[in-house]
Amino acid sequence: MTEIPEHLLKRSRDRRAAGASSESVSAPVPVPTESVAPVARAAAETPVQKLDSKPDSPDVVAAKSRQRIPYWAMATLSLMPIFLFMYVRGLQPQKAEASGPIAVGIEQYGACASCHGADGGGGAGRVLSNGESQKTFPHIEDMLNWVYAGTEAYEAAGVESYGDPNREGGAHYPRSYNGGAMPAQGSMAGGALTEYEILGLVCHIRYDISGADAAGEWAEEFEKWCSADSEIFAGLEDGSLSFDSLPGVGTAPRLGTPAADEIAAA
Ligand code: HEC
Repeated sequence: MTEIPEHLLKRSRDRRAAGASSESVSAPVPVPTESVAPVARAAAETPVQKLDSKPDSPDVVAAKSRQRIPYWAMATLSLMPIFLFMYVRGLQPQKAEASGPIAVGIEQYGACASCHGADGGGGAGRVLSNGESQKTFPHIEDMLNWVYAGTEAYEAAGVESYGDPNREGGAHYPRSYNGGAMPAQGSMAGGALTEYEILGLVCHIRYDISGADAAGEWAEEFEKWCSADSEIFAGLEDGSLSFDSLPGVGTAPRLGTPAADEIAAA
């Protein structure tokens, strides 16, 4: 800011006092005095004069006596746009976030979709949808073992079939689908997935893709293996459990267990 030298200010004051008119170009008041009404000019020039000019009109009085927003409230009011933003965001439906094994399975399923189809409808790999997964594997343990080991490990170990040997439509033998092999997924068998990821995939396939009823017939299995608070999943994730320490799972290929009703019937 430029300071106006005191002597200039004084000169300006003197001229105003002397009733200077249009020549007072150097006066700090920029209003061209000849074009404004006398009252306005008086107001612009000396506030003292204004005091003894006309009394305020009713609307001016109203404006002056109106309650103003207190300074402390301004701080709060300045946050209004943020509150509004948060409110509007709160109104939008949140994406349902799956958690636990199912969420992990959804995330990893891309590794399987190329052969089994995005919806499990099959392709180079067998159909996984429409109850097929529960038919081949009435016990989730056998499905975990199969996905971990894959076709070649079963062949190499000389294990004749995988899953339920009494499966409706006949047992599934290695390479009995189209001659192709199911690649091993577990790390000790040469795959790239961890054991908790394999459990997540198997849960996603059984409950989302193959349609097992998590609240009905399959509730017990779901709670134990696939729910968000499954202790088995948590144990596999933190390393305190492994497929080899879980009864009935294991990483070595082995014959599957028939469904409970088949055992009962035998
Ligand atoms: C390269 C293709 C391919 C990929 C990738 C693949 N699979 Fe397979 N899958 C197959 C084939 C082929 C079979 C049949 C195996 C056989 O006949 O030996 C099969 C069989 C299966 C079965 C047994 C189904 C049944 O009812 O018999 C399951 C379960 C399975 N795959 C799960 C998976 C999962 C989970 C993934 C992803 C991690 C995956 N597959 C990735 C090709 C694939």
